[in-house]
Amino acid sequence: MMFFSRLKIPLFGLVIILFGATAGLAADCYTCHDPAAFQGQVVHEPIAVKNCLACHAPHVSRHEKLLLQREQELCFTCHEKLAAAIAGKKVLHAPLRDGRCSSCHKPHAAEQKYLLQRVGGELCFECHQESRKEYPASHAPFAEGQCSSCHAAHGGDDHRLLKDAGSGLCLDCHEDNSRLRGKHLDRELTTVDCLSCHNPHGGEKPSLLRVVSHAPFSEQNCQVCHAEAQGIDTCLQCHASALASFNYAHNHLGIQGEGNPCVSCHDPHVGDRSGLLPNNVGTACRDCHADTFARQEKSLHKHGNWETCTDCHQLHGSNDVVMLKQGHQVCNVCHDQHKAFIHPIGEDARDPRNQQPMD
Ligand code: HEC
Ligand code: HEC
Ligand code: HEC
Ligand code: HEC
Ligand code: HEC
Ligand code: HEC
Ligand code: HEC
Ligand code: HEC
Ligand code: HEC
Ligand code: HEC
Ligand code: HEC
Ligand code: HEC
Ligand code: HEC
Ligand code: HEC
Repeated sequence: MMFFSRLKIPLFGLVIILFGATAGLAADCYTCHDPAAFQGQVVHEPIAVKNCLACHAPHVSRHEKLLLQREQELCFTCHEKLAAAIAGKKVLHAPLRDGRCSSCHKPHAAEQKYLLQRVGGELCFECHQESRKEYPASHAPFAEGQCSSCHAAHGGDDHRLLKDAGSGLCLDCHEDNSRLRGKHLDRELTTVDCLSCHNPHGGEKPSLLRVVSHAPFSEQNCQVCHAEAQGIDTCLQCHASALASFNYAHNHLGIQGEGNPCVSCHDPHVGDRSGLLPNNVGTACRDCHADTFARQEKSLHKHGNWETCTDCHQLHGSNDVVMLKQGHQVCNVCHDQHKAFIHPIGEDARDPRNQQPMD
């Protein structure tokens, strides 16, 4: 039989829950568990005070690795400040949301500060292989693995886990002075969206501009857009022919009232991919279609690559419902075999309730 008395004692500003007089217990555990596995540059405080039973039940537990509670709840019993800090965040980083603190932290001891599993960017690349890129010109903090200078590893209010969604992200390190303004039409930089032109990880050139450049921008013909023309005319002076592609029952032409509707999707200067769009096309749509994103984020199952909206939607305009490319036929482009054995759909299969083609 064991008797636990729960006492709370403040230690380094935290409340630690100790179970009984445990000071000698680690020694008992160490008779079989190699103490070397619990040493390192950084030793977790409860290990330093030899309190194995702060986290483990010695005999049996409902939780794996004989933990007293589910991992995240266990950590939060002592790390209340962190629990409070992330409670109100809109976006939690997936591994934390799933309760796996140990995917990034070692619970006992580590060679890295903050008990991290791996050093710098290696911690992140373990799961984000696709972001491990060698750029001809890497941005210094990216190359040096200072991912946390821009990203909030636990969670934040921005879907990219950015610590600041505006220019504050950059102006923390880059000074808003006349020299820098000189490169940017002398604008006050605090209100400028730096990410619309610069790739924060790296680029082809030291200027870190996104790789697909709009002809008049790369030709330094800033005046053609910044001098006189306003609103949609800024674009129509060279792209008048694009208007025809909006001339459909469902279209995106009137979306911005007096402003320029073209730049709500296209960046007038540079992009990551053809069409002067961001790598993740969904980024351009998120603000206006927040409901659609909220529904997707709640879903357990998502269509693969769903953020490449252009796979299915024709975004200037279309006569088909929800601006699908070729209506329901769009699915056949990739799911070719399916069309042979599905329920009849299309013009020849009308829904008797509303006479619409089945989709
Ligand atoms: C008499 C030897 C012995 C002692 C003493 C001992 N253990 Fe173990 N423990 C083992 C063995 C054997 C295993 C299973 C093999 C392994 O994982 O190393 C194990 C496994 C574990 C595991 C992993 C359980 C799992 O599900 O993978 C934990 C956690 C653990 N022990 C904690 C403790 C703690 C805390 C103490 C001290 C209160 C302790 N042990 C004392 C022998 C011992
Ligand atoms: C702060 C909480 C905490 C304390 C204190 C703690 N552990 Fe653990 N321990 C964990 C967690 C969390 C895991 C599971 C890690 C994982 O799943 O990767 C774990 C896993 C283990 C394992 C299994 C290792 C493995 O790789 O499967 C052993 C053995 C173990 N602990 C022994 C101990 C001993 C002995 C002590 C005291 C010296 C101790 N623990 C103190 C949180 C703690
Ligand atoms: C995706 C990786 C990742 C996950 C998952 C994660 N952390 Fe962290 N954590 C970090 C990094 C990186 C730091 C270093 C602080 C920084 O650079 O902002 C850190 C710092 C900390 C710190 C010390 C500084 C602070 O913010 O208080 C604590 C405590 C902490 N984490 C606890 C947790 C707990 C508890 C969980 C699970 C609920 C967790 N972490 C999940 C990456 C992670
Ligand atoms: C029994 C209380 C207790 C539990 C449970 C606990 N911690 Fe801690 N942890 C502490 C104390 C005390 C410190 C040292 C004070 C501080 O830095 O906040 C600390 C420090 C840390 C640090 C910072 C280390 C550094 O280098 O500054 C991290 C990261 C951390 N804990 C993660 C975790 C994770 C992950 C869990 C769950 C597996 C966990 N803690 C569970 C008490 C606890
Ligand atoms: C244990 C695996 C794991 C680790 C380690 C990890 N992440 Fe993540 N991260 C994920 C998952 C899973 C998602 C959600 C991806 C999704 O929904 O497509 C995610 C999402 C993100 C996002 C949001 C953008 C996106 O692709 O959805 C950013 C930014 C991010 N992680 C950065 C980091 C950084 C920086 C680190 C290192 C501090 C890190 N991650 C460590 C698993 C991990
Ligand atoms: C200077 C700020 C900054 C630094 C440093 C930084 N990131 Fe990012 N990261 C961003 C921004 C901003 C985005 C959003 C995508 C964009 O704007 O191109 C992003 C996007 C991401 C994504 C989402 C997928 C993608 O590429 O869009 C991941 C994953 C990621 N970063 C991981 C990392 C890792 C790992 C490191 C460290 C090696 C790191 N980031 C360093 C600013 C930064
Ligand atoms: C953690 C600090 C830090 C943050 C945050 C940061 N940078 Fe940097 N940046 C640097 C350092 C260091 C260099 C390389 C030294 C230098 O040339 O000034 C650099 C270089 C650059 C360069 C190339 C300069 C040149 O002379 O070739 C550009 C462009 C740039 N950063 C843009 C940005 C943008 C845009 C952001 C925000 C998304 C940002 N930086 C955020 C530290 C930072
Ligand atoms: C309209 C597109 C655009 C926007 C928005 C933008 N930049 Fe730039 N940035 C440029 C161009 C073009 C250059 C010059 C490249 C050259 O001279 O080779 C540049 C150069 C830079 C440099 C390097 C300056 C040097 O010393 O050579 C830094 C640092 C920088 N920008 C940071 C920022 C920051 C911070 C923001 C947001 C406050 C920002 N940029 C917004 C286009 C932009
Ligand atoms: C194809 C038209 C076009 C060209 C060419 C162009 N711009 Fe722009 N630029 C715009 C539009 C549209 C905006 C957004 C409306 C505004 O703020 O004036 C903008 C905004 C900006 C901003 C503010 C960005 C922000 O997020 O607030 C800067 C800085 C800028 N442009 C610099 C330049 C520079 C430098 C050049 C030439 C190298 C240039 N632009 C060429 C159309 C253009
Ligand atoms: C001075 C003439 C001029 C102006 C003004 C202009 N463009 Fe362009 N645009 C071009 C040229 C030249 C190309 C490259 C040739 C081509 O692909 O048609 C181009 C290409 C594009 C592309 C296609 C890029 C690709 O990858 O195929 C888009 C999208 C675009 N412009 C959007 C805009 C938008 C939005 C505006 C208004 C902010 C605008 N343009 C204003 C001349 C202009
Ligand atoms: C709702 C988002 C959205 C709006 C608003 C929008 N576009 Fe597009 N545009 C796209 C997409 C998506 C593509 C296809 C890009 C791709 O897949 O390469 C595209 C393609 C283009 C192209 C490349 C040539 C082509 O037709 O394939 C031009 C030029 C262009 N748009 C100009 C404009 C102009 C001018 C406006 C304003 C009158 C505008 N766009 C408004 C999303 C939009
Ligand atoms: C500036 C705001 C804005 C942006 C940015 C925007 N949309 Fe829209 N979108 C609208 C509005 C408003 C409508 C309704 C138009 C109508 O029905 O006449 C709409 C309609 C749609 C529809 C048809 C929905 C229906 O119920 O018929 C689809 C699909 C769509 N948008 C997808 C996208 C995609 C994908 C992007 C990004 C490439 C995007 N939108 C960017 C405002 C926006
Ligand atoms: C695999 C094909 C496919 C992809 C990829 C796709 N959609 Fe759709 N989308 C559809 C279909 C089919 C509907 C009609 C669904 C319905 O009627 O319930 C639709 C409906 C919509 C609607 C109407 C309102 C709603 O939520 O149902 C919007 C807005 C929309 N999509 C935006 C987007 C955006 C933004 C993206 C990219 C981030 C995207 N879609 C990617 C197929 C797709
Ligand atoms: C650009 C190609 C593409 C288009 C267009 C497309 N799909 Fe898909 N679809 C895929 C891929 C690839 C997968 C597998 C994704 C995965 O495994 O994550 C998939 C998976 C699915 C699945 C899950 C099937 C399974 O076996 O798990 C369904 C259901 C589906 N798609 C329906 C649709 C419908 C309905 C449409 C039309 C609105 C559509 N798809 C359009 C490429 C596409």
